Amino acid sequence: MKVVVLLGPPGAGKGTVAEVLVDKGFKHISTGDLLREQIRLETPLGIEAKKLMDAGQFVRDDVVVGMIRDLMKDSGADAKFLFDGFPRTLVQAEKLDELIGSLGATIEHVVQLECPAESIVERLIGRRTCEKCGSVYHVTFNPPSNGDVCDVEGCALTQRADDTEETVRKRLEVYAERTAPLITYYEVAGLILKINADQPIVDVRADVVKALGKV
Ligand code: AP5
Repeated sequence: MKVVVLLGPPGAGKGTVAEVLVDKGFKHISTGDLLREQIRLETPLGIEAKKLMDAGQFVRDDVVVGMIRDLMKDSGADAKFLFDGFPRTLVQAEKLDELIGSLGATIEHVVQLECPAESIVERLIGRRTCEKCGSVYHVTFNPPSNGDVCDVEGCALTQRADDTEETVRKRLEVYAERTAPLITYYEVAGLILKINADQPIVDVRADVVKALGKV
């Protein structure tokens, strides 16, 4: 089993980078996407999560860890997991270590995407998403070819409820307080690969693929 973690502030480009690694056989697991699916289905978990997500706050550790545990429990030895937005707290990082340890694996690399706050605000306010296929665009940096319509599905693109400037700044505060300590956690373990994410998408993707080598 191979496990790679994408670590970085909201809007650093974790989902955008993940797209190229999926082509290399990774199963992309975004806890944000899993939670948004619960919201779409209007489950009790989704109703609770929506309030927190719209306010830029984290969902409870036990809820998120439970979702990951369910996804990984029947995995074979050849599975390749790419985590995006998980772990996000020290408790989640410790639980992930326990979980993959019990499956006889360890984390191979943690890709840390570095990007300044002002670029992030511009990126998230201009992000547009296809609710049908999950494709992510940016009105300026990665526009769809045809107006405000998804290139894959042809349907109208939407803006995430948490992509307002006020909520983005709150998310950045929560990241600094609760997620940034994971950088030291993984540096101590010798797992961090630092990537400059403040450059064009094509260059960030190429740097990540190069840094990961033959994973
Ligand atoms: P989640 O969905 O994970 O959001 P996030 O971490 O805030 O990250 P984003 O999806 O906003 O950004 P990204 O880094 O993937 O950037 P993207 O590639 O889209 O989580 C949402 C919420 O769910 C959390 O706030 C929390 O409430 C909850 N949650 C999720 N996981 C949780 C957990 N483990 N524990 C507790 N709660 C949890 O790119 C952004 C935009 O920029 C796009 O428009 C893109 O086209 C553009 N772009 C990307 N790269 C570049 C570039 N290099 N140059 C120019 N533009 C770029």
